[in-house]
Amino acid sequence: MGSNVAVIGTGYVGLTTGACLAHLGHRVVCADVVVDKVEALSRGEVPILEAGLDELVHEGIHSGLLSFVLGAAPAVADAEFVYLCVPTPQGEDGSADLSYIQAAASEIGPHLQPDTVVINKSTVPVGSTRVVEQALGRSDVAVVSNPEFLREGSAVHDFLHPDRVVIGADDQSAAIRVAGLYLGLPAPLQVTDPASAETIKYASNAFLATKISFVNAIAAVCEAVGADVNDVVLGMGYDKRIGDAFLRPGPGWGGSCFPKDSRALVRIAEDAGYDFDLLKGVITVNDDQFERVADKVQRMVGGDLSGTTVAVWGLTFKARTDDLRDSPSLQVIRRLLARGATVQAFDPAVDPVEGSHDSRLAGIELAADAYGAAQGAAALVVLTEWDDFRWVDLDKVAEAMTHPRVVDARNLLDRAALHRRGFEYEGIGRS
Ligand code: UDX
Ligand code: UDX
Repeated sequence: MGSNVAVIGTGYVGLTTGACLAHLGHRVVCADVVVDKVEALSRGEVPILEAGLDELVHEGIHSGLLSFVLGAAPAVADAEFVYLCVPTPQGEDGSADLSYIQAAASEIGPHLQPDTVVINKSTVPVGSTRVVEQALGRSDVAVVSNPEFLREGSAVHDFLHPDRVVIGADDQSAAIRVAGLYLGLPAPLQVTDPASAETIKYASNAFLATKISFVNAIAAVCEAVGADVNDVVLGMGYDKRIGDAFLRPGPGWGGSCFPKDSRALVRIAEDAGYDFDLLKGVITVNDDQFERVADKVQRMVGGDLSGTTVAVWGLTFKARTDDLRDSPSLQVIRRLLARGATVQAFDPAVDPVEGSHDSRLAGIELAADAYGAAQGAAALVVLTEWDDFRWVDLDKVAEAMTHPRVVDARNLLDRAALHRRGFEYEGIGRS
């Protein structure tokens, strides 16, 4: 027997959550404040790129288990469970901005049935369960923290095959009811208090960011001592205590979570009287990495970027998503533009016409394909690890460029094949 669920906010997290819960047999109403989005979703049109999500949304609409409404209040009238999945952007001082969460909670408060459980999925500072309780203004409604661990691009898979389900609640019966929503998922269930659940989310993302900054720092050492970071990571990964996940060197980490969550955790610690120097270092290494990649391109073209054309492959913050939020690619491009380069970019998930209206892409010339980006370029820099880039015709790329030079910031391309065709090549932590 499925439950009645409302999901407030149909972004990357909310839409995945709603569609997956409908797939598990629950009756789900998803709410959003954007009229066009609600209309498109009601027709089965998914506005984001997320593997398997289209299919689940169609399945849910077809079975009648998934529907979409405008505004939070109309979604919650019959709900036994309400998920809050609205954004928690970074505020001016690095802390998380809770205004969307508070507004959503105040809006739904008067419309909830007694005994409804409100589930916080948005990433919120420790103690926010209380903030939601206050905004709801309901003593008969429990608030539970249930952080998401969904990677964009494999969010549906991550939801249906989680490493764990974490539920933070003061009210044990509410925790058990929420656990019931996930029955059938093959995952360990951890029930804890709200503060611990909220900390688990921040600590997990901060640890993953730490692994990546660590490997990017090791890559810098490799460059200095003449080692190859790919081999170093392979050798480290055989040690089961280390593992090889999240140790791919790159242009730095980005996306909608790591940058804001790592800064928020520094702030949470500071407010609590702990100076989280280690995590500050992790963030600094990441900021330096954007600079290091821009420096590599500058060196490769002879030391001066002004007046040169640089080709960029990849704009999204990683492959298999269309998300540009806090993309390392844009960080590197900003630096190239500031040093006087003209940037011609191609990304398989960014339409050149639509992209030309996106303020985040201002100043970038968008090409229709990988060859178009390379046309007349003095160097090419690979910033997102799209598989498509592995299969381009390298002879055609060399012909299009004024000089065949590649900075491969994802260590993605076939170095030997590039060398055979006369390309100058530099990767991250390997030359
Ligand atoms: C989520 C979480 O909310 C955030 O805390 C977490 O750290 C990252 O992931 P995400 O799903 O990626 O955010 O956000 P986004 O894609 O921006 O979607 C949010 C949705 O909520 C949008 O569709 C927006 O229109 C909607 N929204 C926003 C509301 O419905 N009500 C509001 O008041 C604000
Ligand atoms: C992250 C968390 O992984 C997920 O559990 C959830 O909390 C939301 O935030 P997401 O932001 O979608 O997911 O992407 P993720 O796959 O974690 O990658 C984050 C960034 O790190 C990307 O810029 C990616 O390119 C980079 N990365 C990742 C590396 O540079 N090297 C790696 O080995 C792994």
